[in-house]
Amino acid sequence: MNNNDSIPSKEANWKKSVDKTLKRFPERKSTFHTTSEIEVDGLYYPDTNDKYENDLGYPGEFPYTRGIQPTMYRSRFWTMRQYAGFGSAVETNKRFRYLLDQGQTGLSVAFDLPTQIGYDSDDVMSEGEVGKVGVAIDSLHDMEQLLDQIPLDKVSTSMTINAPASVLLCMYIAVGEKQGVPIEKLTGTIQNDILKEYIARGTYIFPPKPSMRLITNIFEYCQKNEMKFNTISISGYHIREAGSTAVQELAFTLANGMAYVDAALKSGLDIDAFAPRLAFFFNAHNNFFEEVAKFRAARRIWAKIMKEHYQAKDPKSWKLRFHTQTGGSTLTAQQPDNNVVRVTLQALAAVMGGTQSLHTNSRDEALSLPTEESARIALRTQQIIANESGVADTVDPLGGSYYVEELTDKMEEEVNKYLEQIKEIGGAVQAVEEGFMQREIHHKAYETQKQIEKEEEIIVGLNKYKLDEEVNPDLLKVDEALEQAQINSLEKIRAERDQEKVDELLTILRTQARVQNANLIPHILDAVKAYATVGEICNVMRDEFGLYTGM
Ligand code: 3HC
Repeated sequence: MNNNDSIPSKEANWKKSVDKTLKRFPERKSTFHTTSEIEVDGLYYPDTNDKYENDLGYPGEFPYTRGIQPTMYRSRFWTMRQYAGFGSAVETNKRFRYLLDQGQTGLSVAFDLPTQIGYDSDDVMSEGEVGKVGVAIDSLHDMEQLLDQIPLDKVSTSMTINAPASVLLCMYIAVGEKQGVPIEKLTGTIQNDILKEYIARGTYIFPPKPSMRLITNIFEYCQKNEMKFNTISISGYHIREAGSTAVQELAFTLANGMAYVDAALKSGLDIDAFAPRLAFFFNAHNNFFEEVAKFRAARRIWAKIMKEHYQAKDPKSWKLRFHTQTGGSTLTAQQPDNNVVRVTLQALAAVMGGTQSLHTNSRDEALSLPTEESARIALRTQQIIANESGVADTVDPLGGSYYVEELTDKMEEEVNKYLEQIKEIGGAVQAVEEGFMQREIHHKAYETQKQIEKEEEIIVGLNKYKLDEEVNPDLLKVDEALEQAQINSLEKIRAERDQEKVDELLTILRTQARVQNANLIPHILDAVKAYATVGEICNVMRDEFGLYTGM
């Protein structure tokens, strides 16, 4: 007869996983206390009952509502990973090293628009945009300068690159090789999420089919080479920036996630071989509790999708790991110092929601790329939350709040309604092609703008509590001479490389692009090592795949 005592309770199982985790990630302190010397436990929960154990569960246990790790920030703070990049690779490398010296714990590369859309700096399409919204990367030479004096076996790097993701990933691998870091020791994330580019961000090049092929080529290549790289950062950030609600942000992101899983399965990959390296990227907007509930619901929904719908067996396939960036569209150009307060609240929501990695916006980013001082204040915001507020000393501190639990349940319910709708349309790719998500977002964006104009939604400093006169802060200026300097550098690389080799490798890439199920990554890697450029490689693929022209 089954005696319940013989089956360890979920609580006992959870305590065992805590002990196992502590072996690799001991807690930051031997004991945690409030200022009144009250000891702080790792987790607070009711006397175990079914609702708690099934609906919420313990952190590090399915469905991960309370967090993906048993001890979360008691062992390791989230990665403080500031999105940065402007001008030349040399200038950006300086900013990277400054931020690392100031205590940030991960890198995040912002590329300029020509790089993001696969044009070289000397392409007519690049005029006026070289180095403007991110760093200009044309060839492996630029990537070597970008990562100079940065140990790639110690620092994880996120790259916000989508259509040409395969090219920049190969450049990163090639720099790793030059540093003597084997491919399996490289850590980081490639954004590689084309669907949200069609929906909201716009840096796409190729039509959906070849784009999905390149994305799954990256999945396959990283898995085959046992890379610890996160192969995609399925992004809701930009969907929210385009004006969606929190529910739409989550629903459309998870729908896109399912489309990528379907595409990978269709290409013959085993779910537990690629799913553990899927990652997510969300926004943190102003409504504090809604954002916390959004992150908690996200983990629970995705865990159920992966375990129950896709039948993934490895718990690592069930865990939704995510990066958060505070909401750029909430920043005001008016009274920019107010943005430090907004970003603090948004960052706090991301932490109380259990983020794995965080970027905090700078106060001046409604006006320009951040100055060094503004970027430092943004990083210090994270460090103060981590080290002074106490919120990282216990797991999921808002868990059990009647409001937060009710809101988490409600978010889950509303997101699942959208997922059902998108499933009826035929999935995310179909929904994007029909413009369903775009229409939902544009409608909400229009409604929000009307509420702001009617002062039904107050934005401090913008439509209320305004100043008669604004004092313009010092802003970062990108040197106009940079564009020509970058073009001169590119011409020098072209003159010095083995042109015959480049031509031969680009021809091989072209031939392979015509072979439906050929994985193109090895051929792109060969080409970048010969100093073929982002534009040259993307132009070969433009010829072979055609261009996406939008709805
Ligand atoms: N207990 C046990 N293990 C723990 C732990 C704990 N408490 N805390 C951390 N760990 C482990 C993790 O499991 C991991 O080990 P593993 O790789 O063996 O699993 C290791 O420590 C590192 O921890 P994380 O993976 O949690 O943290 P990372 O920072 O390395 O990764 C991520 C976080 C979300 C998974 C990853 O995808 C990431 O870094 N994403 C960043 C994306 C990004 O920066 N995007 C910027 C986009 S900018 C943009 O697009 C906006 C622009 O357009 C405006």
